[in-house]
Amino acid sequence: MLDYKAIIPPGDQVRELAAAPVGITLKRAGVFLGAEVRGVDLTQPISTEIAAYLTQAHAEHGVLVFPDQTISSEDLMRFGRCFGELSVHPFSTSTQKTPELVIYDNHKDNPPTTTDIWHTDETFRECPPMGTILCSKIIPDLGGDTNFACMSAIYESLSDRMQRFLSDLEAVHDFVPHKLVFEETKEGIAKLRHYEDLFPKVTHPVVRIHPVTGRKAIFVSPQFTLYIKGMDGTESKQLLESVYRRTLIHEFHYRHRWQPNMVVFWDNRSVQHSALHDYYPQRRKLDRITIAGDRPFGDPPADAKDIRTYVMPPTAAFKNGRPKRHFEQ
Ligand code: SIN
Repeated sequence: MLDYKAIIPPGDQVRELAAAPVGITLKRAGVFLGAEVRGVDLTQPISTEIAAYLTQAHAEHGVLVFPDQTISSEDLMRFGRCFGELSVHPFSTSTQKTPELVIYDNHKDNPPTTTDIWHTDETFRECPPMGTILCSKIIPDLGGDTNFACMSAIYESLSDRMQRFLSDLEAVHDFVPHKLVFEETKEGIAKLRHYEDLFPKVTHPVVRIHPVTGRKAIFVSPQFTLYIKGMDGTESKQLLESVYRRTLIHEFHYRHRWQPNMVVFWDNRSVQHSALHDYYPQRRKLDRITIAGDRPFGDPPADAKDIRTYVMPPTAAFKNGRPKRHFEQ
């Protein structure tokens, strides 16, 4: 059995933060990730001091929860811009007027799609968003939680050998699940080709280094990662599956139970998430924005030239040495 307490003593993995600005309280919500922040009114612009504190808290805790925030979409976007430029999701249900704003409105006639697979947002991009913010509007009576996994704690739970091995690798990512939204018509296929040109397959380190905390985190997910570069298909599949299995360990999770008017801001550089679709066909409605991020970096990748493949030499190469066949005698 995995003794997770021996891996990272609870409490030690979060470094001390600067003191919270006056009026703000932060309370940890999970052992490895998650914190609840009170005392900030998101209907109003926040000061640079508060923004700096939240930037640090977001990086250290991975998921920040702000309960009781009855805010408009404009408030949400203003809050998001305190942490960087907002990005536009190419395949999601953006509003026309404000493409940075995605509205998830799922109900009996609009079932949720692929968000129930563990993932980091939009890793099919060269520079995936550093953070995502959801604001809940309508929440079902039962179900519809979002589960988060601390990918730095998962990395730190691996043996030194495995950490070194994974830190040397790169993986190829693609927007595979979003391909389902294109229709199988001539026009739909042409559109898909256009988006394949805009978002060609991209390579990221399997273990990325967090630009704020310096902690390493696993950065492959079953939603967008296709394969590990320089490995054969079976090796890559087996390795990825064993990494994904670790994401399922409960102790590394913070499972968020939504109430209406909650704002949740997570760090895509160190956290993966998976939304539970158990509420369907009830209604669940949230506003969503993302904040642009940097190109992920890790340790320099190993050279793939060392891969050995077994190639059977052609029979003709043994013309002089091999025993004669019956027809040759
Ligand atoms: C997402 O994956 O961006 C959505 C998460 C959720 O609906 O809880």
